Amino acid sequence: MNIHKIATQPFEDQKPGTSGLRKQVPVFQKRHYLENFIQSIFDSLEGYGGATLVVGGDGRYYNRQAIQIILKMAAANGFGRVLVGQGGILSTPAVSAIIRKYQAFGGIILSASHNPGGPEGDFGVKYNTGNGGPAPEKITDAIYARSREIEVYQILEAADIDLDQLGSSSLGSMAVEVIDSVADYAELMQSLFDFDAIRDYIRSGFRLAVDSMHAVTGPYATQLFETLLGAPAGTVLNGVPLEDFGGGHPDPNLVYAHELVELLFGDRAPDFGAASDGDGDRNMILGHHFFVTPSDSLAILAANATLVPGYRDGIAGVARSMPTSAAADRVAAKLGIDCYETPTGWKFFGNLLDVGKATLCGEESFGTGSNHVREKDGLWAVLFWLNILAVRQQSVEDIVRDHWRTYGRNYYSRHDYEGVESDRANTLVGNLRDRLGSLKGQTFGAYTVDYADDFSYTDPVDGSISQKQGIRIGFTDGSRIVFRLSGTGTQGATLRLYVESYEPDPSKHDIETQTALGDLIQLADELAQIKALTGFDRPTVIT
Ligand code: G1P
Ligand code: ZN
Repeated sequence: MNIHKIATQPFEDQKPGTSGLRKQVPVFQKRHYLENFIQSIFDSLEGYGGATLVVGGDGRYYNRQAIQIILKMAAANGFGRVLVGQGGILSTPAVSAIIRKYQAFGGIILSASHNPGGPEGDFGVKYNTGNGGPAPEKITDAIYARSREIEVYQILEAADIDLDQLGSSSLGSMAVEVIDSVADYAELMQSLFDFDAIRDYIRSGFRLAVDSMHAVTGPYATQLFETLLGAPAGTVLNGVPLEDFGGGHPDPNLVYAHELVELLFGDRAPDFGAASDGDGDRNMILGHHFFVTPSDSLAILAANATLVPGYRDGIAGVARSMPTSAAADRVAAKLGIDCYETPTGWKFFGNLLDVGKATLCGEESFGTGSNHVREKDGLWAVLFWLNILAVRQQSVEDIVRDHWRTYGRNYYSRHDYEGVESDRANTLVGNLRDRLGSLKGQTFGAYTVDYADDFSYTDPVDGSISQKQGIRIGFTDGSRIVFRLSGTGTQGATLRLYVESYEPDPSKHDIETQTALGDLIQLADELAQIKALTGFDRPTVIT
């Protein structure tokens, strides 16, 4: 075996963010850049000699080249076997499922999620542990520390592996198995949902459209919806993964998934529409001329879980990220189960899922999932909705309105200011922090501040503490304003403003969201001086 030890020097900017290391492609293409980070991952782990690693990505530009490098480095570092998706393709939830099913040591996911791809687009690397979930901060901190002192990495000199050919081969003494990207995941979905009921419902005339946005879910969605559930060919839109996602922004929201939105809000609209993101962990749910807010989606899945075979016996608890609306809390209260409020990022759900404190989890950022894997899971959420619809035989809108009548409506919106100069964003957050201590009890128009803090979370399982996770200003009527800076962007800073109010009265459930939240949005600007400090006169994206 020809293992090379290559001398290298640290890069200063390899700190993993909300979801792994994300940079623009040219940064990852710098000499030794990817190799340094991969070696830093391996150096931060113990006991993987001879063990199995899962590797795959969302098919974006640089996926294939990165995989060849990672395979050779895994061989040089002593892994026994790598399972890699055909063509280098594995969705994020599929990696999680495969790690768990084959009891792998861990996995490496190559993706920048919903960020655009292509030679000038974004790329990313994330490490997942043996439970199938994103590495906890203890590990990502160790990786970062290692990346700052690394001096050498190891790589096997060998020919590239043919990633398109299913089957086994070897790299030095390590086995490489190119596996079907979809099969294990589809099998898991069939174990959770009533495919017969959904198939019958589709056959009876229920019409759906699923937009894969030229990203990783194309092959998964085609197999699940068209092949296994019998939906007509063409149900899956943009189903071929492309290295640049067809020039699009593979983020399933009302702005970026506009093709699907136009379809669902147009003439002859289908009954149901869904989209997923670059790596397949996000979802957007639409009904006929109707948008389901992700926070509501989590609450509705929780309230209807026992209609679905995989959750027939009920759910143990619900968890949501702090900025996600409190709609799920109301369902949990009614069910008599716990609801956990965690910092932003799926990694914070891992412990709760592992010990069985939570069964369903969700984030306002179009992420929902459960204990079936340790990632959020876009197509899982779509199937969950389809299963509920097939059982209840009501429209998406009727189900949501029923829900609001029972639990009240949490009006909710997120405003993003993308590409703000970092200094300006930090000043804004710093100013807010300075004011936090004096806000409690102050009245602004109809709103009196009940609490104001910088969210801190103590993990109830391992006691680890995560501080400064977002500024919350809560009012006595239950409404909230939250500010935080994105941890996934690659250029400048992204300020996120989250606004929520609660309306129990069904006669007031028809107000347009931005109108319903208008006063709070204005108050947020007054408190944080968003326009003045960012230089933006409006958000770049509203969801
Ligand atoms: C964003 C979302 C967050 C999600 C993450 C990864 O992170 O807000 O909920 O977990 O992407 O998909 P942010 O950019 O806000 O740090
Ligand atoms: Zn994603």
